[in-house]
Amino acid sequence: MQNRIKELMEKVGGFKPATLAEIEDFRIKILGKKGELTALFEEFKSLSAEQKKEIGKTINELKTKALDKINELKESLDTVVASDCDAIDMSRPATARRVGTRHPISLVRRQIVDIFSRLGFTVADGPEIEDDWHVFSALNFPPEHPARDMQDTFFVEKNPDILLRTHTSSIQVRVMQNSRPPIRVVCPGRVFRNEAISYRAHCIFHQVEGLYIDENVSFADLKQTILYFAKEMFGEDASIRMRPSYFPFTEPSAEVDVSCNLCGGKGCNVCKGTGWLEIMGCGMVDPNVLEACGIDSRKYSGFAFGMGVERIAMLRYGVKDLRLYFENDIRFLQQFEAIY
Ligand code: PHE
Repeated sequence: MQNRIKELMEKVGGFKPATLAEIEDFRIKILGKKGELTALFEEFKSLSAEQKKEIGKTINELKTKALDKINELKESLDTVVASDCDAIDMSRPATARRVGTRHPISLVRRQIVDIFSRLGFTVADGPEIEDDWHVFSALNFPPEHPARDMQDTFFVEKNPDILLRTHTSSIQVRVMQNSRPPIRVVCPGRVFRNEAISYRAHCIFHQVEGLYIDENVSFADLKQTILYFAKEMFGEDASIRMRPSYFPFTEPSAEVDVSCNLCGGKGCNVCKGTGWLEIMGCGMVDPNVLEACGIDSRKYSGFAFGMGVERIAMLRYGVKDLRLYFENDIRFLQQFEAIY
């Protein structure tokens, strides 16, 4: 039997057809119901376990080789035929080309920026590697503030301090330095914090922060702007509430909650029974910040706000584990384009 397998192996190896019909004949002769290889497999069934062990591998190799050879030959003749007579069959099914999808974080960032651009905000950009002044000092952080600690911030160099920005407020500082009011910008970008990675925290994430400075800007303007944003983002029924908070660069400061769009405010496990979800921080720009950036704080006032894109995406899409946004598993990423 070994010999017959070997012979057949050689026959397969040496087969040189000229037409597709010849290949089909060959296939039937070898692999068809009454084919040579089929017959060998029949015989194989009656061998002893010992012999099966010995021959099983080669006979299977022969089968794979025969199948591969037939497929290869068919393909090569196919293309020859097609190019030979210029007759491309347009009705043949094509293989669909897979197109990539936008990342959910890009989708949500774009949506946030779109909403604010409808209110006249333009986009500003800035470096991810920053100096201490733009990230902390200009923003009224006292020298002993914990954010300046290695435990919270990634430092590139110490003295003078060069670091990875921990918020995109540093872009707003650059805008205030380089332009005069009225200022109306949103600053999307990547930020870095020295945190242990878990389902709810990551050392890299994305923010969109905003800044509006003009004469007579009030807290009412801030509130109305955020309410408009919440309704555009989460639906006409969305409402907001503000809780007093603290940021070094705003006074007064507030934390903004949006009504939970999953339970309609009744309380569920996403909003932990409260009916509210925290979405951003905001406040009136502290006069110290305006002055540090060369803006007259007696003439001008302004508001600022900042939100995490992952957080908004999580609420929009119901994705509870932040890490999924960074793994780039195509099966995860493909789910979102349709939703936007
Ligand atoms: N910069 C703040 C943060 O990263 C967010 C914020 C921006 C708060 C503007 C108030 C005003 O957490």
